[in-house]
Amino acid sequence: MNVLHRTWEKLIAQELEKNRKEAKKKWQPRLHIAPPVGWLNDPNGLCQYQGLYHAFYQYSPFDAAGGLKFWAHCTSKDLLHWNFEGVSLAPDESFDCHGVYSGSALAEEGQLTLYYTGNVKQTGEHDYVRTGRESNTVCVTSRDGIHFGEKKLLMRNENYPADLTCHVRDPKVWKEDGRYYMVQGARTAEDKGVVLLFESADGLNWKSLSRMETEKAFGYMWECPDLYKIDGRTVLSISPQGVEADGLNYNNVYQSVTTFLEGDFRSARMNGVFRELDAGFDFYAPQSFETEDGRRIQIAWMGMPDADEYYTNRSLEEGWQHTLTLPRELSVKDGILCQNPVRELDMWWNISMPFVNTYSGAIENCFELELSEVGERISLTLAGGLTLAWEEGEGIFRLEFTDDNLGAGRTRRGRKVEKLRDLRVIVDVSCVEVFIDGGRDVFSTRFYPEGEGCSIELQAPGSRGRIRTHRATAQDQAENPDSSKRQNMTAKRADVRRADKGAWQF
Ligand code: FRU
Repeated sequence: MNVLHRTWEKLIAQELEKNRKEAKKKWQPRLHIAPPVGWLNDPNGLCQYQGLYHAFYQYSPFDAAGGLKFWAHCTSKDLLHWNFEGVSLAPDESFDCHGVYSGSALAEEGQLTLYYTGNVKQTGEHDYVRTGRESNTVCVTSRDGIHFGEKKLLMRNENYPADLTCHVRDPKVWKEDGRYYMVQGARTAEDKGVVLLFESADGLNWKSLSRMETEKAFGYMWECPDLYKIDGRTVLSISPQGVEADGLNYNNVYQSVTTFLEGDFRSARMNGVFRELDAGFDFYAPQSFETEDGRRIQIAWMGMPDADEYYTNRSLEEGWQHTLTLPRELSVKDGILCQNPVRELDMWWNISMPFVNTYSGAIENCFELELSEVGERISLTLAGGLTLAWEEGEGIFRLEFTDDNLGAGRTRRGRKVEKLRDLRVIVDVSCVEVFIDGGRDVFSTRFYPEGEGCSIELQAPGSRGRIRTHRATAQDQAENPDSSKRQNMTAKRADVRRADKGAWQF
């Protein structure tokens, strides 16, 4: 550990201690990973190692509006309750001094290896796209999953194909049939997003194998690539930048999409057919990993880079910004990649209130509303200013903010949904995730309700469903005395039924 590392450690410890004393907890979710103080972006290094789940994330501890990037570290036994382990990677070497950028984890017998991009901005006159930036591929290992050793520089710009800009980053590594593979996102000199595939026999010495790209450019840069096999399909997941809005699709500043690769991934051709992973305001840079019981789990940044011009996060006033999404289980159904909250969540809710057709009331601010049968239309308003609506015939699922304080600039999003068969809406204080039709479509958004609870107004003739919450148990108290105090404004159904809010404008 070098001097710079020790200095960062001391400064971060001071920042965390100051924050602990001030105890600003407004809008902090209960189940979503959020930074204790400062800024969070991409999930990194997701894995299960020696039985414990690990999630790292891009972290700027000193500035909630973003800045120099570190890796923060959280661990969990159940994918729902995360323990903050502190900052494990800091920009403390000449090859990562302007940011320990995104990357992944490889969990092997007795060793956890993290791969990441060491970002360096050279001094002088540069645009930092074509010149002036080093994108170094670095790895670091740990035996216990908590303490990491010496960083090893594996590849520099000159090891990448010559027709690229200096934007090459976000190594995602996996092992298959005894060999190691790595994908990285890149921007070519012609401003085309591509994925680079590398191969290695030992995880340390890498050689460039092939490239995945579309015939026509789909954005100028592809960030945070991921490649995995699931239900007999090979999925390539990318976060492209520079894709134009197209009707209901691609309305955010940047996107996250998947495509199915046909044939062997080492030489696969891309067909240029992409599907957005999420139709909400806050979803970017997803990463997946495989659990020891064989599930493919994905977590994304529940935020959006460069969105401040359009919408913001009110938690900035509290000294922190952004969260990750809930972990989602992936599967392929009828040729569509579906995302559903991890099954652990299902088991965690321990109170269930069934309803038919309507529901109106105030409830605590962490709950799930589920419709298992849906009639011809639904309209659900949360916290008096976020409406989710769908109507048969029109075939569009809509999410709209009618209260600007609640949405902090977020307006409306929609997605074609011909037939709504079921719906799961998960509200966790300031995070809302909406799973439609078995997870075929998902909307993720942040919102900023005032007060302790959340009001629910549901009109859904012909529907049947339930609201689930979690009442603190003795086990919660034992495991986390602090958090169980914060929860459970006991769910109460209000008798007041407000008049229908009227027609929905998009
Ligand atoms: C995506 C991203 C990555 C990069 C990281 C830096 O949000 O731009 O490409 O590694 O964030 O924080």
